[in-house]
Amino acid sequence: MTGDGRRRRRIRVREATPADAADWVALRHALWPHATLRDLRATARAFFGAGTLEVAAVFLAFAADAARDHGEAPCGFLELSLRAHVPGVTEVPAPFVEGWFVERRVRRRGVGRALMAAAERWSRARGHRALGSDTQLDNRRSRVAHRALGFGEHERLVSFVKRLGGPRPTRSKRLRPPSWRGPSR
Ligand SMILES: CC(C)(COP(=O)(O)OP(=O)(O)OC[C@H]1O[C@@H](n2cnc3c(N)ncnc32)[C@H](O)[C@@H]1OP(=O)(O)O)[C@@H](O)C(=O)NCCC(=O)NCCS
Repeated sequence: MTGDGRRRRRIRVREATPADAADWVALRHALWPHATLRDLRATARAFFGAGTLEVAAVFLAFAADAARDHGEAPCGFLELSLRAHVPGVTEVPAPFVEGWFVERRVRRRGVGRALMAAAERWSRARGHRALGSDTQLDNRRSRVAHRALGFGEHERLVSFVKRLGGPRPTRSKRLRPPSWRGPSR
């Protein structure tokens, strides 16, 4: 076996449980540093509580780490939503990759691949025949990884915003649509 193969065997992926909430939030914050911890925690609480449209399934990856309990530490996550509209997919709602992140120290060792494989198994087991995802145009690494894992490019979008002015809303009046998924990917 190659050294690369040995490294890959030390990765474990499973669905998140309530006991993983803090680790999941920390990984979400690493991917979406501009989101507040308060919002990221609220989503985790909602997911493990009554459920939320933002997240349908969460997968965590663990790498060997002698310093941690159970000899392993979380090193990546992937979360799916079920979207009512996924470009290029006719059978909806369809699973959509809302967040996919692997810590820098363990990248290029198959962790992202293992997370995506878990998401695909979850989706297939529920009768879905397509998995959607997106990324920013300048995220070359993500585009290359998506292609390497069998995703085909469907379309490129330019998003626009027109500021409408008016007073800044108070926190309690801010609206968050169901498709909200944090400020950056
Ligand atoms: C995208 C990301 C999740 C991939 O995780 P990873 O654990 O490094 O991915 P893997 O090692 O499983 O790579 C899977 C395949 O993708 C390709 N790939 C991944 N990163 C690559 C890179 N930097 N350059 C070239 N190819 C790459 C390779 O073909 C790789 O297979 P191989 O290692 O057998 O050649 C990770 O780079 C990341 O967290 N990036 C920052 C956050 C982000 O951009 N997320 C995606 C937003 S949608």
